[in-house]
Amino acid sequence: GLGDYAIDPVRGFVPADDPPDALPPYYRPWERTVRDLSALIMTDRLRGAVTSLPLLTLDKLSSHGERERAMLLLTCLANAHVWGPTTPARTLPAPVARPLDELARLLERPPIIAHASIVLNNWRRLDRTEPLSTSNIDTQVTFLGGVDEKWFYLATVGVELAGAPGLPLLVLARDAVAADDPDRLTEALLGVREVLGRTAEALLGIERWCDPHVFFHRIRPFLTGWAEPGLIFEGVNRGPVVLAGGSAAQSSLIQSFDAGLGIRHDDEVTAGFLTGMRAYMPAPHRRFLTDLETGPSVRDYVAHRRRDRPRLAEAYNGAVDALARLRAQHIGITGRYIQRFERDGTAKGTGGSDYTGFLRRAREETVGHLLS
Ligand code: ALA
Repeated sequence: GLGDYAIDPVRGFVPADDPPDALPPYYRPWERTVRDLSALIMTDRLRGAVTSLPLLTLDKLSSHGERERAMLLLTCLANAHVWGPTTPARTLPAPVARPLDELARLLERPPIIAHASIVLNNWRRLDRTEPLSTSNIDTQVTFLGGVDEKWFYLATVGVELAGAPGLPLLVLARDAVAADDPDRLTEALLGVREVLGRTAEALLGIERWCDPHVFFHRIRPFLTGWAEPGLIFEGVNRGPVVLAGGSAAQSSLIQSFDAGLGIRHDDEVTAGFLTGMRAYMPAPHRRFLTDLETGPSVRDYVAHRRRDRPRLAEAYNGAVDALARLRAQHIGITGRYIQRFERDGTAKGTGGSDYTGFLRRAREETVGHLLS
């Protein structure tokens, strides 16, 4: 079942248990520094604060949730240290570098801020008696803070939640193929289309509280990755670390729809990037994608039955079309949030991709999977 992949039937890839918003007292130095993050960045005291942190061990973390909270704190400290506010730092001091390196190995993800931390594990419910939704939520951690940054992460949680009901439907679709049940498959695909429509709406919701100018100048820089020649992890026995920054491409959601609908991205600008981003996902989610991809193919089945089952082919195309529309909206958002602020138009996405080329090609490839 979905539970084997750390997927919740309602929350999807968002953790089923609310992330703890404080670590045990031993970790107070990390908590304090992160609590003061914006002021420390603004006053140029952050690097000093990071350098003088005590070196703490991970053995007082007693649950998966606490390890995720620690990962969130340490990855935010790392990127605040690298990017704020003057020239980028080349070395990450040992008090952050050593526990971060160790924690990343435990969690099987790279030691850098990623969607899994800054979005999936960076929220708390305002009212614990009401369900999680974008009208009952706040962030745990921000770099500079304010509604624009909060909402950038929270609206992205909203996208994950809107898409979540699609995950059981994708599994249902695969099982319907295995059971040779075209009616059940048709229903599942109609459901997927509807979910994708709501997901696209949620994506546009970003504009409600996240101002593009603030995003580009005040939020985005802190999400940037570490390009060549890489970041030196002081006190850790490894070479300089080159990693992608936080990016929506690290969300397992859209790749799940691709996998479930049999949409392959094998162009040179899409294939490598999408596969590469899987390393940044929580390990069970990564496994879900592989298993969904290697299961029976929904697309082949629909292609095979489309003559005697026109409604089935229509339902499949409806789902693929909805995914293509979502990608088109994503392209529109990058125009409003990134492109208009760039001078030369050659900037990279925070994930390190040539994002315009990538998003366009990914959309074309999606459209290319419509069955005629
Ligand atoms: N990936 C988004 C960007 O590049 C956050 O701005």
